[in-house]
Amino acid sequence: MEPIIEIRSLSKNYGNFTALDNVSLTIEKGTIFGLLGPNGAGKSTLIKILSCQTRPSGGHAYVSGLDVVSDKKEALSIIGIVPQENSFYDELTINENLMYFGSLYGVPIIEIKKRSHRILDMLHLSEKSESFSGTLSGGMKTRLNIACALIHKPEALILDEPSVGLDPVSRKALWDTIRAVNWEGTTILITTHYMEEADLLCDRILIMNRGKIVVEGKPSELKNAAGEHVIQITSIPGNYQVIKSKVESLESVLSCSVNDKGLKINLRDELPIQTILEIFGSEGEKIKNVESTRPSLEDVFIHAAGEEWH
Ligand SMILES: Nc1ncnc2c1ncn2[C@@H]1O[C@H](COP(=O)(O)OP(=O)(O)OP(=O)(O)O)[C@@H](O)[C@H]1O
Ligand SMILES: [Mg+2]
Repeated sequence: MEPIIEIRSLSKNYGNFTALDNVSLTIEKGTIFGLLGPNGAGKSTLIKILSCQTRPSGGHAYVSGLDVVSDKKEALSIIGIVPQENSFYDELTINENLMYFGSLYGVPIIEIKKRSHRILDMLHLSEKSESFSGTLSGGMKTRLNIACALIHKPEALILDEPSVGLDPVSRKALWDTIRAVNWEGTTILITTHYMEEADLLCDRILIMNRGKIVVEGKPSELKNAAGEHVIQITSIPGNYQVIKSKVESLESVLSCSVNDKGLKINLRDELPIQTILEIFGSEGEKIKNVESTRPSLEDVFIHAAGEEWH
């Protein structure tokens, strides 16, 4: 596989604060790559460096071998950026916006017309091509934001939380859009806080926390590493903190957390359910409900975002 984005020992400081701390990462051509992490992890900072909006304090970032600092102009022609805020003009029609963004990138007018046609077709916006952009629905605006980033035919499309504020139907339509763009050969780098989205859409996922990479891999690999079973126990009166400290010390328990349903336990392989239920009993807890599932990406995320990662 050929890399398209290469990040080498990248750091970014804002005064004394380190937003990115020695991050290295390779994204292969043609993949859909998900960048996850809690608020303030450094995702947008990384994207801003890749899209030449801010300079790194240390290290390098390359797009198709071009340094985003020293070869800024050429690097920018290879990527398309979909910022969280819409970048198009409400008072222009869809076609006019595409003409504007295409011209910004120096795409010949005849070429812009040809590409607009294809892109609007792919993003199901053709019918609205003469509508003022400000009059579009939220989902259509997101798609237009993507269309504007595609007009110069970038090799990689970078999207910062594109599905915020979309209803579930529009979100699924957005996934189809992203898949269609990827199908044409465009590499995708996407940040999201929706674990289901990351799991369904991404070939690889990277979770960051406090400016550092915590874990990277295929969604299936990450979920497998989070253990064999997740058990969720609800009991009355529900003094979960006391039980948590006892359960945590069991050999096959990878981690344990209290959530709104009760106690959630990630287990390595064996299922010491009897021992766990005995601990609840010895604390005078009456079991109300026990559920057993496979780890989800959300479990992976919660561990990665927490203080410890087992
Ligand atoms: N221009 C700036 N000046 C000072 N600090 C900044 C600046 N930009 C970002 N930061 C800080 O850097 C850290 C990382 O911010 P960043 O926006 O990259 O996080 P994020 O992972 O995108 O978070 P979110 O999920 O909330 O979008 C935060 O603590 C933020 O306050
Ligand atoms: Mg952000």
